[in-house]
Amino acid sequence: MKIPLLNKIIPDKQNEQGAQDNNPKLTTGLVSVQDVIAPSAIEVDFNHLKIGGTYFRTMFIAGYPRFVSANWLAPLINFNHSLEVSMFIYPVESKEILNDLKRKIAEMEATIESDIKRGKVIDPGVQVALDDALALQEQLAKGAEKFFQFGLYLTISSDSLEELDQVTKEVSSTLGALLIISKPATLQMEDGFKTTLPTCLDKLMITRNMDTTSLATTFPFTSSELTANEGVMYGINEHNDSLIIFDRFTLENANEVVLGKSGSGKSFLVKLEALRSLMFGTDVIIIDPEEEYRALAESVGGDYVSFGFSSNTYINPFELSGAKEGESTENELQIKIGFTLARLLKIMVETKSAEEDAVLHNALEMTYKQKGITYDPETHKNEPPLLEDLYKVLVGFENPMAQNIALRLEKFVKGSFGQIFNRKSTVNLKNSFTVFSFRDLEDQMRSLAIFVIVDYIWNQIRRNLKRRILIVDEAWYLMKNQNSAEFLWSFAKRARKYYLGLTTITQDVEDFMSTDLGKTIVTNSSIQMLMKQSPASIDRLAEVFYLSEGEKSFLLSTNVGEGLFFAGNSHVAMRVVSSPDEYKLVSTRPSEAVKPQAPPPVVPLPPVSETPTPQTETPQRSEPLSVDDLLKIVSKP
Ligand SMILES: Nc1ncnc2c1ncn2[C@@H]1O[C@H](COP(=O)(O)OP(=O)(O)O)[C@@H](O)[C@H]1O
Ligand SMILES: [Mg+2]
Repeated sequence: MKIPLLNKIIPDKQNEQGAQDNNPKLTTGLVSVQDVIAPSAIEVDFNHLKIGGTYFRTMFIAGYPRFVSANWLAPLINFNHSLEVSMFIYPVESKEILNDLKRKIAEMEATIESDIKRGKVIDPGVQVALDDALALQEQLAKGAEKFFQFGLYLTISSDSLEELDQVTKEVSSTLGALLIISKPATLQMEDGFKTTLPTCLDKLMITRNMDTTSLATTFPFTSSELTANEGVMYGINEHNDSLIIFDRFTLENANEVVLGKSGSGKSFLVKLEALRSLMFGTDVIIIDPEEEYRALAESVGGDYVSFGFSSNTYINPFELSGAKEGESTENELQIKIGFTLARLLKIMVETKSAEEDAVLHNALEMTYKQKGITYDPETHKNEPPLLEDLYKVLVGFENPMAQNIALRLEKFVKGSFGQIFNRKSTVNLKNSFTVFSFRDLEDQMRSLAIFVIVDYIWNQIRRNLKRRILIVDEAWYLMKNQNSAEFLWSFAKRARKYYLGLTTITQDVEDFMSTDLGKTIVTNSSIQMLMKQSPASIDRLAEVFYLSEGEKSFLLSTNVGEGLFFAGNSHVAMRVVSSPDEYKLVSTRPSEAVKPQAPPPVVPLPPVSETPTPQTETPQRSEPLSVDDLLKIVSKP
């Protein structure tokens, strides 16, 4: 199909001939589509090709293993770099092959016989080849197998020569692990490149014989199956419409991250997972900054704990679990003082020097000591101190630095903030579905609140081991501060030991991924879900997840509730689906909440068509029309 505008200037084939006859100069001066899209030059080197700024290298497969199992090429398809893979399959007439085989078999039998006659040991290689040939002959003669030649080529692309070399090595060793011998198509790079274009032209012709069974195992696209026998349903596999059923606790850790822009369906997906996991006996704890899990908590009979100025639930950050440490050597008070409280207080009073940190450390030890709590685990059951005890200790230090810290701490002890952080804990985690919310806290206080809640949950979890999921929605509140980010990271690291799966949800992908800690949390999670992304964050994600161009554009243009699901080595495109009943529980669309029975708004019809569109065809929907929808209406006859 030609573009109409160019049609005027580019004559088609026959006219071109005519034009050439009439005026060759005119034809050579015309711009064709090829001229517009072609690169200005292609540099062909011994071992690579350079087109524009991109380097390419083609490899061919020279040797195959003797035994393969189904889907043995999956590592190639799941390789962490984009590859162009071409497979060529040439059917061969069985009759010719049978004749060749007959001759070959006779040759090998003669070799073996003469070895036996001369009293020599039979070459095992020949014996194996003979057995193979006989088996193949039988299958071909019966018509059970057909005969093919198979060629496999792959082209690697990269922005730099160094990376190209590196990736080439990685590809070779990945293939080497499968006992496949790959070689660069040296001096044939251009032909190699053309071979891996989707034009179905094999310019290299390096093939190997295969029968139908072996050929079938080369089919590489069975990897996108993520159906397990146990677990919960996450969604529908967009490649083949199978169900994605998965048990996150079967992986090396049960952590999950969900990344996507606002409104892409992150909370929806996580709520469904929570609901379905609950049914299989997993406890669910949710940290909910936006107060959107209330309906869900109420309908499953869970606890909804509001945390803030106007509520009467409190958590004392000084509380210890008093749990036996089991075989682990970590001392709870040591972690509390040296890690958790140190970080919490750093956020509160913003310490600036190591001296200040040291003063705080001493004050913390003294505060606990005054309550009879020391590093001896037996004492951990004593009544814990409060924030005001620390404040008093600091004031009592009679050291200007301690006084100064005390001054900065004052607002969390007295006044309205004291309401929240300076109280005995009144929360308990008895219910198997508990949601913590703190909607009326301002942004700055939220990270503190999440911090304190997560630490509290941590204490509770260690008291009795159970299969649990902790969901931290809008986790970027924690990542904004180095100290709370470190806390989340250490939590993620230790979760597995306590049979806990941490789910981290964030919409601020760019910020989350720009810190090393954020990246570590993401890459160390066994399950990663990428929902619809904004153009600003896609490049960073592509870097971390090795996304192909196709996956990048999928993530930019995908619908609400669709995304990529990564679990271990496999990843699939997924569509999250809910039953109507589930939808009622988990959807938080403001329009539905405000006026549930509101009639759909009248859709203005564009005044373009002369014959008015029949009224019945007006789409009945409660949302404003998108440009696409308008176009559909406009283009109706
Ligand atoms: N898989 C889905 N199927 C149907 N509706 C969905 C789906 N995912 C999201 N939605 C709708 O989009 C709304 C916003 O999704 P939500 O998960 O709250 O977005 P966010 O990514 O900001 O957390 C939901 O309340 C729901 O109405
Ligand atoms: Mg959300």
